[in-house]
Amino acid sequence: MSNRTFTMIKPDATEKGHTGAILEKINAAGFRIAAVKMVHLSKEKAGEFYAVHKERPFYGELVEFMSRGPITAAILEKENAVEDFRKLIGATNPAQAAEGTIRKLYAASVGENAVHGSDSDENARIEGDFFFSKLEQF
Ligand code: CMP
Repeated sequence: MSNRTFTMIKPDATEKGHTGAILEKINAAGFRIAAVKMVHLSKEKAGEFYAVHKERPFYGELVEFMSRGPITAAILEKENAVEDFRKLIGATNPAQAAEGTIRKLYAASVGENAVHGSDSDENARIEGDFFFSKLEQF
């Protein structure tokens, strides 16, 4: 089991000014920030990050959305990081997210769902390495 996960605070949450509150919630839940930066993804880079969803009907919409404005990318460390972080953010669809979760508090829809969280240890490593060089991971 890895003790790291990867997250992005997405353009919708960034536009609404929720970045600080979300980072505070992550911190309060016991995650250590091992890397963090604000980035405006090009369509090409957003498409590359979500290439696994290329065949899904929402892929075009997802790429448009994720390249709409800046995101905050971060690598987070905690015991059982992937699973615990997914609990903290709640279900992909905010309508189904539990009370108190980040998506329940800050997300508007399944497409514009405020935050990303890796779904496995392997993807956490791949996604973290997509944004951060080894020199930028602490
Ligand atoms: P995320 O956890 O970042 O991983 C894939 C993303 O695709 C997901 O969050 C949503 O933002 C988006 N997504 C998943 N399902 C749908 C859908 N039915 N319609 C639009 N976007 C979706």
